[in-house]
Amino acid sequence: MARSLGVVVLGSTGSIGVSTLDVLSRHQARYHVVALAAHRNVSMLFEQCRLHRPEFAVLADDDAADELNTRVKQAGLDTEVLSGEVGVRRVATLENADAVMAAIVGAAGLLPALDAVQAGKRVLIANKEPLVMLGGLFVREARRSGATILPIDSEHNAVFQCLPASCGSGIPIADEPGRYGINKVILTASGGPFRDCGIEELEHVTPKQACTHPNWVMGKKISVDSATMMNKGLEIIEATCLFNVSPELVDVVIHPQSIVHSLVEYVDGSVLAQLANPDMRIPIAHALAWPDRMSSGAATLDLSNLGALEFEPPRLDRFPCLRIAREVANIGGTAPSIANAANEVAVEHFLNRKLKFTDIPWLISETLEHVTAVDDCDLQSVLTADEQARMFALDKLRTKSRIRNVGEQRVTVT
Ligand SMILES: NC(=O)c1ccc[n+]([C@@H]2O[C@H](COP(=O)([O-])OP(=O)(O)OC[C@H]3O[C@@H](n4cnc5c(N)ncnc54)[C@H](OP(=O)(O)O)[C@@H]3O)[C@@H](O)[C@H]2O)c1
Repeated sequence: MARSLGVVVLGSTGSIGVSTLDVLSRHQARYHVVALAAHRNVSMLFEQCRLHRPEFAVLADDDAADELNTRVKQAGLDTEVLSGEVGVRRVATLENADAVMAAIVGAAGLLPALDAVQAGKRVLIANKEPLVMLGGLFVREARRSGATILPIDSEHNAVFQCLPASCGSGIPIADEPGRYGINKVILTASGGPFRDCGIEELEHVTPKQACTHPNWVMGKKISVDSATMMNKGLEIIEATCLFNVSPELVDVVIHPQSIVHSLVEYVDGSVLAQLANPDMRIPIAHALAWPDRMSSGAATLDLSNLGALEFEPPRLDRFPCLRIAREVANIGGTAPSIANAANEVAVEHFLNRKLKFTDIPWLISETLEHVTAVDDCDLQSVLTADEQARMFALDKLRTKSRIRNVGEQRVTVT
């Protein structure tokens, strides 16, 4: 019988983490959980420890990790509790881990995901922000270490499935542009909850409305990104590094039903698509088992009862974040990191009701205008750009709220 493979789940308490554990629990002879990591959700991580009996459990927040440690000890579990970013990074490279699911949200997942790649693991990458910031380095490091990067984002996983098998030598990239006869990559987008909203209505949308996605149940940050379509913008950048294509070869088409997850167009006019119900367990099971296949727990498609599948172009006037992300993809260097950091700050403030939905693109544009991007895109320059952008965006928001505080009189406070 084949050896059971060890899996580490980074971001285990999130939407992708929970789906990953669901898939793993369906294949207990094939996989075992080596480590789980999250930020501060003690009760969910404790329950996951009871169910999956990992060797290690990590919480990035030190106080939360202390609380988890107490509960793990009281329950007599044989799990070592670690804390802080150091703990998260340690489990990303454990010797007995064959695969690492990178599903921490945001730039916080950058270093652990990169560690896993540098350690030569099979890295299932859901956490798109690190690829947006430093995708080229991920691919180069994977080549050096022998790591396999497999995309979990449903669109990129779909593209990977539509590429020729000869591309799939471990790293899913079309090495020499044109070699595989690829004309373009077409990412589908549902259009999110505000696809048909009037532009003026967007001014007043609430976090709850923005987080109510028509087809997917996801974490809050990616839900807001889907509503602004920044998510699709980030995915354009993600595609350029994963598949080694220039931004103009990545198209976006609105497909409200979320059944066609993406497509690849070839020079002979053929277009290959991947279809499935919108259930993240499908790309997760695909990437875990690749190049084999295994069941995911998701319902199969009932084609005869699907109804119409619609496609239309995205409206850039309604979704300025998509336009900004495209511009940033063309600029390259540290510009994507600056946009990503500003977006993370903006989304957090929107979720806390401190920023209007329509101010999200405003904050990203302001940050891009004032924080200088550099062409060199190494780890240090990206971390510096991320920090500078966050500082600028936070400062801009403080200034904005002080302007608001002085009422009608709009005074700029420096
Ligand atoms: N959800 C989807 O369907 C989907 C689809 C495609 C791509 N993705 C991408 O996958 C990533 C995760 O998305 P999600 O929807 O699963 O997010 P989520 O539900 O918000 O979960 C985020 C996870 O990250 C953990 N986390 C946050 N900050 C951390 C830190 N500093 N250190 C360690 N762990 C930390 C959270 O822990 P706590 O619970 O303790 O806060 C949680 O486990 C995102 O980058 C997203 O863009 C998601």
